Order: sequence, then C-alpha cells, then structure tokens
Amino acid sequence: KKSQAWSARFSEPVSDLVKRYTASVSFDKRMAQVDIQGSIAHATMLRTVGVLGQDDLSSIERGMAQISTEIAEGRFEWLLDLEDVHLNIEKRLVDLIGDAGKRLHTGRSRNDQVATDIRLWVRTEIDHQIALLGQIRRALATVALEHAETIMPGFTHMQVAQPVTFGHHLLAYAEMFGRDGSRLTDCRKRVNQLPLGAAALAGTSYPIDRQQVADLLGFEGICANSLDAVSDRDFAIEFCAAAALIMTHISRLSEELVIWMSPRVGFIDLADRFCTGSSIMPQKKNPDVPELARGKTGRVNGHLVALLTLMKGQPLAYNKDNQEDKEGLFDTADTVRDTLTIFVDLISGIKVKADAMRAAALQGYATATDLADYLVKKGLPFRDAHETVAHAVRHCEQKACDLADLSLADLKQFNASIDQDVFTVLTLEGSVAARSHIGGTAPVRVREAAQKILAEPSSS
Ligand code: ARG
Repeated sequence: KKSQAWSARFSEPVSDLVKRYTASVSFDKRMAQVDIQGSIAHATMLRTVGVLGQDDLSSIERGMAQISTEIAEGRFEWLLDLEDVHLNIEKRLVDLIGDAGKRLHTGRSRNDQVATDIRLWVRTEIDHQIALLGQIRRALATVALEHAETIMPGFTHMQVAQPVTFGHHLLAYAEMFGRDGSRLTDCRKRVNQLPLGAAALAGTSYPIDRQQVADLLGFEGICANSLDAVSDRDFAIEFCAAAALIMTHISRLSEELVIWMSPRVGFIDLADRFCTGSSIMPQKKNPDVPELARGKTGRVNGHLVALLTLMKGQPLAYNKDNQEDKEGLFDTADTVRDTLTIFVDLISGIKVKADAMRAAALQGYATATDLADYLVKKGLPFRDAHETVAHAVRHCEQKACDLADLSLADLKQFNASIDQDVFTVLTLEGSVAARSHIGGTAPVRVREAAQKILAEPSSS
C-alpha cells in the first residue's frame, strides 16, 4: 500500500530526514480549522454544480465535523508521514467516510488550498489585532485624560526642549497605533480574495463556481489570475510589514518606559506584575516586559525580511519555497497579539510621578522659546529675540537658576521691553496653555483629543 498520496509514481521512499525536511504538519496544523472550512465550501460548490452527489456532500460534512471535534479536543493523530495539514485531514476523512472522501479533492490542488487557508487564517489575526489596537488607544486616551495637565519636559536629541503635557505625549502613541489599525484594515482587503479554483496553477476543467465559494467563506473578491493566486504571498508580506510597524511603535514606547522608570529619571513606575527582580541584587525591580517587547521587535522585523527574501527569486507559479512562509508568519501574529494584549493592561497601570516630571521640566530652560516668542510679540524680529534669550540662558547658567527665577530688573537688562507679564509665559503652565491650536499640547486640546478617541466605537 502506498504511503503518500502521491507516492504511486515513485520507485523508492524518501529517507526519514527528507521526510522531516519536507514536512510541514508540525506547524501548519494550526490552520486545520480553516482548512476544514475551505474544504466544506469547496465540496458544497461541487455539489451545486453537479460534480458531487448529495450523499457524498453529506458524508463529507459529517466526516469533517467529526475531524474538527477531534482536532479541537486534541484527539487527532497527526502523522509526519502524511506531510502536511491538508493530507492529514484528507486521509482521516477517507478513513471515516471512504470514497466520498476521495472525491473531495476534485478540481482542487493543495496549492490553491494552502493559499486559501493562509488568507483565512491571516484575516482572523488581522481582526484580532485591529481590536487590540483599539483597546490600546483607549488605554492611552484614558491615562492621557487623567494627565491632560501633568507637565513634563519634552525632549529633542534627548535634551530638554519645551514643556509638554504627559497626556499629549501618550496621545502621540495613540496616533501611531491608529495608523497601524488603518494599515491592517487596508491590508485586509487584499488578504480577503479567494485563491481556490486556481487549482495547481492553470485552473480546472470542472464547471466550478468560484463566486459561491467566495460567498461561503466571506471573501470580498476572487483572485483574478490562477498563476498569481497560487504563487504570491504579498498579502502575508503586507501583514508582516504592518506588524513590524506595530512592534516598532511598541518598541519606541517601551524604550521610553524603560528610561522613565530608571531611578535617574523617575517619571513613572510600572505595576509589579510587569517587572521582575534580580537573582543577585535584592533591591532590583526591572522593567522586563517593555525590554522584551523592544527585543521581540527584532524577530518580527526579521520575519518580514525573511518573507520578502523567500519571495524574491521565485518564478511563477507555486514553488515549495512557499511552505517556508508559515512559521515566521505565525510567530509574527503570536508575538504582536501577545504584546498588544499585555500592553493594554500595562498602559492602564502606569503610575505617574507628576512631581518628578515637573521638577525635570523646570530644569533645562524649557520655556526659553516662550521668552523669544514673547519678545517677538513686543516687536523684535525672531532671530534677534532668539539671540537675546540665548544671552539670558547663559546668564542663568552662571547663576545656576531658571529663567523664571530672574527678577524683572534682571530680565530688563536683556531687553527693555520686557514687563511684568513675562512671568505668565515663563511658567510651565503658561507655556503649554499657549499651544492650543489643533494638535497642540495645551490641556484643553489634550482633553478634546482623548475624548475623541474614547468616543470611537470599540471593535472588540
Ligand atoms: N505544505 C504546502 C505548503 O505549505 C502545501 C502545498 C504543497 N503543494 C505541493 N504541490 N507540494 O505550501
């Protein structure tokens, strides 16, 4: 009795190593449930167009229902000898229902079957991730609303630049995650096209109805070219690119959390459940979760490059190279999903140390630009105002004080037009409140932006 679905043509079996080398069942069994869905849709269509009888379809439905349960309950016996998820399920079907099971593969190839499975699988992952990105945005907006007036130093080049509100800073990330969500929504349209019907590469001579299969599986459209349908994985690459950007944004946020939690900075504390201690230094509380998220960004970026490289040398149509698309894709989805899930909780639990933020904003002449703007309003050209304030900053450095600590008489030495009203612009509150245009850091704008996010319908 032949051991593989295709082995009748061969004169000797493959070696055990080659068997292991070419098999994918150890990882592609994750697609078992979508593989079954796809098979039932295919069989239903074959019945409609008269290629399968009703008895055969009923047997296939019954057999697949049982297989689905066996898999879900961990009772299904996966065999390396049967190579991949598709052949394992098909073999079990034939064992259960006999000849009807052997008719299922009519007008179909594993090439269009696997492409369909991956698209169904990625589609579900996209939906989960879009929902999680919405939750992260709401978590950020909730903390931002609470800290719409909490002032911290804003940095450029890691040097104190201008005061900003902590809420505004968090909402910058909400914007990034919002774009990540819309990227996935856009990617989903191209994922959600039906390859089935392309068969091995050239299509099939059976009178198939691809539209019916697309409708049954919820595909928005049908791949228009059979060669393209079985061979390209650009939809998976797009998903990995979107995932790499999600992780890049998470990684930047993680970097900041790590810096903010350093005792040298002390802007925040993370809940204990996201940190671990040291086996040697009893005092340590390390921000492991953000560090790991930063580190895991590397593997997600790596999977994107691996997939791009996998694709670049392949002639049309299907090549076995494509079997290598799955592990990286699955790991990408798992990593992003776990990371986003943890971060929803982590963000909600950030403990803000407003006093430390404020103290840091008072160092480093964060309101120097405000003083320059003040002089411009008194009639100085901006470049002259810039130079005047630079002199004042040098003076403060020598006296080891802040601009706001100078007396009016001191300030007047730099420019006679400076008056008592200067002190409102030299304060941190005055500085942030003045930036009340769209996209500005003023508390009134931050509250508005946070509330807008919180009013978004949640997709989870
Ligand atoms: N396991 C294969 C994959 O992941 C399924 C398609 C194999 N097709 C073939 N003719 N060998 O791509």
